[in-house]
Amino acid sequence: MRMAETDKKATLQFEGKTVELPIMSPTAGPDVIDIRKLYAQGDVFTYDPGFTSTASCESTITFIDGDKGELLYRGYPIDQLAGQSNYIEVCYLLLYGELPDKAQFEEFSYRITRHTMVHEQMHNFFRGFRRDAHPMATMVGVVGAMSAFYHDSTDVNDEWQREVAAIRMVAKMPTIAAMAYKYSVGQPFVYPRNDLDYASNFLNMCFSVPAEPYKIEPALARAMDRIFTLHADHEQNASTSTVRLAGSSGANPFACIAAGIACLWGPAHGGANQAALEMLRTIGTVDKIPEYVARAKDKNDPFRLMGFGHRVYKNFDPRAKVMKESADEVLDLLGIHNNETLKVAKELERIALEDEYFIEKKLYPNVDFYSGIILEAMGFPTAMFTPIFALSRTVGWIAQWKEMIGDKNQKIGRPRQLYVGEAARDYVDIAKR
Ligand code: SDX
Repeated sequence: MRMAETDKKATLQFEGKTVELPIMSPTAGPDVIDIRKLYAQGDVFTYDPGFTSTASCESTITFIDGDKGELLYRGYPIDQLAGQSNYIEVCYLLLYGELPDKAQFEEFSYRITRHTMVHEQMHNFFRGFRRDAHPMATMVGVVGAMSAFYHDSTDVNDEWQREVAAIRMVAKMPTIAAMAYKYSVGQPFVYPRNDLDYASNFLNMCFSVPAEPYKIEPALARAMDRIFTLHADHEQNASTSTVRLAGSSGANPFACIAAGIACLWGPAHGGANQAALEMLRTIGTVDKIPEYVARAKDKNDPFRLMGFGHRVYKNFDPRAKVMKESADEVLDLLGIHNNETLKVAKELERIALEDEYFIEKKLYPNVDFYSGIILEAMGFPTAMFTPIFALSRTVGWIAQWKEMIGDKNQKIGRPRQLYVGEAARDYVDIAKR
């Protein structure tokens, strides 16, 4: 990690006070004003709900240039990784900071493969849920319960236990997501297989049944693997910030990941892939698009174009570009032509990107706009879209959690507030109210 300190200063003058604050310069992105001493020296807080102008930490893992539409994992552009790498190699890169050599890749891949089974007793957890429970509800519950099964990797102060927890999480999330799916459709759980790669194993655990062999289509497995890579990490998004905040209290890694899954579920975040496909289905046909675009622009209408817009990207989300290409490829591979939903999606994108409102607010398709079309074509129900996002993002959450634990500056996260409630007042007996 390069040192960001500089000799530059920001001077704040207010109410006769002058506070000098250090400025730090990153490898890429805007300089930051270090306000850690502001309250002590100036007796004021800053105010930034939603953290639109706030860096919560120093990180070396992922960088997004929202204006250029660039996403780097440890410096490598996402389109190169999606096109030339694979998810397990990307997991190694995110966790350890460098691309593995052949021996390192094989050793890491071996360790992940041999941790894909879950404790047999965990099967009972699923049976406590209704069959129609959303798989994200099941995943939050089961992942949170992992801390009750894997006591030997919950001590966050033990580096080896942190490493074991990381391997277990990356390895077991596809198994848990597949079990959540199988439970929801009333089919028996399918055990992981050590002879299959990560994505093929996930497809097999989801779609194979005891009654007949399941043929894994290599091109589909590659498309699945690419989707995992596109979702692996994304700076300090809401769910990653949730994992970091939970981890800052010393909570065990399984509890932190469960918190991340819960946050990702929201439709403004990872739940947008399900909401985007449902929106495209509701629009139905190309001729209905103008009506919905008008609603999305209407301040009095809560309707928004799901899969559109982003806090950081003010240009194309590079993941959406790869996803759009992949959608054409997968539908073609599956012999699905004239997919009405894809037609609506492409026409909606074209119309929106020519519309003054979207141009002025710099709203572009994000990672969630096309992903649902691919996943639906692969056979996944919409309820499985966000669990797939969660299993893909687990490596990012874990890498960020490990970085936070290892950060000498880290403290328990405890924001202050702008209090606008009642000033102190005395209690009034009920007889006098
Ligand atoms: C993910 O943070 C990450 O990195 C997240 C993520 C990751 O990999 O972890 O990239 C994954 O969550 C992608 C985003 C998925 N969510 C959606 O697709 C839901 C629809 N999008 C919006 O809800 C919204 O764009 C957000 C939540 C994504 C971003 O919201 P911001 O940054 O808080 O922006 P905003 O809501 O303040 O919007 C700015 C303006 C507003 O208009 P004004 O109040 O300025 O007049 O743009 C408008 C919004 O009304 N706007 C939209 C819109 N998104 C923003 N108008 C119509 N349709 C939309 N989709």
